[in-house]
Amino acid sequence: DTGLVTLDPGFVNTAACSSAITYIDGDAGILRYRGYSIEQLAERSNFLEVSYLLIYGELPTKTELDEFTEKVQRHTLLHEDLKRFFDGFPRDAHPMPVLSSAVSALSTFYQDSLNPLDPEQVEISTIRLLAKLPTIAAYAYKKSVGQPFLYPDNSHGLVENFLRMTFGLPAEPYDVDPALVKALDLLFVLHADHEQNCSTSTVRLVGSSEANLFASISAGINALFGPLHGGANQAVLEMLEGIHKDGGDVDTFVNRVKNKEAGVKLMGFGHRVYKNYDPRAAIVKRTADEVLGKLGVNDPLLDIAMKLEERALSDDYFVQRKLYPNVDFYTGLIYKAMGFPTRMFTVLFALGRLPGWIAQWREMINDPVRKIGRPRQLYTGYTEREFVAIDER
Ligand code: SDX
Repeated sequence: DTGLVTLDPGFVNTAACSSAITYIDGDAGILRYRGYSIEQLAERSNFLEVSYLLIYGELPTKTELDEFTEKVQRHTLLHEDLKRFFDGFPRDAHPMPVLSSAVSALSTFYQDSLNPLDPEQVEISTIRLLAKLPTIAAYAYKKSVGQPFLYPDNSHGLVENFLRMTFGLPAEPYDVDPALVKALDLLFVLHADHEQNCSTSTVRLVGSSEANLFASISAGINALFGPLHGGANQAVLEMLEGIHKDGGDVDTFVNRVKNKEAGVKLMGFGHRVYKNYDPRAAIVKRTADEVLGKLGVNDPLLDIAMKLEERALSDDYFVQRKLYPNVDFYTGLIYKAMGFPTRMFTVLFALGRLPGWIAQWREMINDPVRKIGRPRQLYTGYTEREFVAIDER
């Protein structure tokens, strides 16, 4: 009993770890970062402020936020040798392995700040990652479209700079639409942390061996790439495009899911913890409506998504299995309306999740009773047996 919440002993036995960062009530559809509800933060905060909250535990004062912002802005540039790193990838490389490789490579450029037990080195690595991941992500996109890289311009905020480096061209001025900045900033807030999900558990496990922060985050990016986790936002768009190609026939698709056709799932639905509507999905759905409206985008895939949701939520198959839309169901429609190709969707998830991964890694590395992650197993193999010579097999 922590005095804050009373932990059910059964729960404690199954819990991967204790943490004071994010609280989820899957049945009630509650999500809080450091005690603040996701609805309040979505409405009143922004991505850098939420990053500060997750990493340092408190909402910053104006001075603290200004100093934090200034520190992050000073580190957005990549080392020129790291810029050349992108030349080695094939043109059609998926940006997620490019992202994880570049982040891992950061540990070769900052060998003076890799010690996870030195708070100063952890701090500078934290700032470098928050500042450089958007630049790396923009360069991964530019590489995929064969366009020149744009250097960061620190007169812009982090999210605006990312959009400018992604969609801007040296040949002409590019004014970032403030509505896009606001919507992407909100989506990053919604993705910023989510308790002990697959990629966050990976970051904690890798870091528990005292591997450096860059190596641990690179591992988290690889875990996030999986289509059952962060890769789902790309898979949702591919699912909706498939239904659209079939004339928007939602019923046929739903029946294929219910018949458990191999590899056919309702992507963007279901969750290991939420057995209710994912609170983030409700906010994303509203944002999708607003952004597409503001951009004057009339995307038939949005109508299909809404029809699919309505159909599933009224179908016992999904209701009995407590399958509701999760954060990935609508996000891809917004990213698409912003101009991102589907292969960049999970990269955007990683950009949002970065402060959560860092906060969770720092909490783990500072845990006084921390042990190296070393799960045991339930052995189900052979009992001992005698070796058989090959000519007797
Ligand atoms: C994220 O953990 C996190 O916090 C993750 C995340 C985060 O912020 O980090 O929230 C981000 O990863 C969201 C999830 C994105 N993934 C998808 O949208 C992919 C589609 N969803 C499923 O793969 C699935 O719902 C999971 C993996 C997300 C959760 O699966 P569960 O809770 O382990 O459910 P299960 O596999 O035990 O399935 C229970 C039943 C099964 O049917 P039965 O065997 O009982 O007949 O529900 C069915 C499953 O077949 N089912 C689905 C389904 N998800 C579960 N059937 C159709 N479509 C689906 N999406």
